[in-house]
Amino acid sequence: MTKKFLKSLQNIGIILSLFILILGMNSCSINSDIVANSDIIYQYRNIHNPEGIGKFYLGREIAKVMGHEGARWLERASRSYQEKPENAIDNLDLKPTDVVADIGAGTGYFTFRISPLVPEGKVLAVDIQPEMLELINFVNKEENITNVETILGNIDNPNLPPSSVDIVLLVDAYHEFEYPREMMLGIVEGLKPGGRVVLLEYRRENPMIMIKGLHKMSEKQVKKEMKAVGLVWQETRDFLPQQHFLVFKKPDISS
Ligand SMILES: C[S@@+](CC[C@H](N)C(=O)[O-])C[C@H]1O[C@@H](n2cnc3c(N)ncnc32)[C@H](O)[C@@H]1O
Repeated sequence: MTKKFLKSLQNIGIILSLFILILGMNSCSINSDIVANSDIIYQYRNIHNPEGIGKFYLGREIAKVMGHEGARWLERASRSYQEKPENAIDNLDLKPTDVVADIGAGTGYFTFRISPLVPEGKVLAVDIQPEMLELINFVNKEENITNVETILGNIDNPNLPPSSVDIVLLVDAYHEFEYPREMMLGIVEGLKPGGRVVLLEYRRENPMIMIKGLHKMSEKQVKKEMKAVGLVWQETRDFLPQQHFLVFKKPDISS
């Protein structure tokens, strides 16, 4: 009788252990999507959008960097009527003495349209791909342009001289910064007090804008990410066919 009782107790024990093991395995598979090296700033996920790098910042997945092989696409003739870059540049309200940093400059599509407008200032063209900067340096030499300087950035630092820039331009680049927070802190450091950051990003709110999802950003998300580094939103002008034109300011604490 006692032997039988002990045996059934043993069986219950085995069944319970199996049950606990299965439960444990289940909760493991629920959490295994979030990878162990996630921290307060960034989260990493195994299951993610194939256009992204599986790294998340303030709820947004970061897009893959567009390689220098895409240089031709940036220079496509149709871009001028699809995106109206001249309108965007008019709205920058530039002064001839301004120092402009074009971060994620690519082939210099914006850099070379801005440089004639700041003859007493300059454009700092920053990119992490040396191949892109080589293209810019080539045009500089060919066209005898003297107010465009290239800067090789790091993935987490634009390498701008401190408090030296009047306006930072980010065109279709911010969404692919692998370290958006560190990049923006570096940008804020490079801005003069009262300096502006202008972001152009494809409007995520509009499903009819046929651009990959992670290459679009909502106004709300951009504002959240800029606020996180101390930039103050000034205005959002939606006059471009596909992109938001968002303006932020570095506070001038002396005034
Ligand atoms: C889609 S292209 C846009 C280029 C240019 N702004 C334009 O509109 O023609 C994005 C560029 O951002 C650059 N980029 C990505 N991450 C960067 C970073 N952390 N710092 C500087 N440039 C970066 C890429 O190398 C690429 O040239």
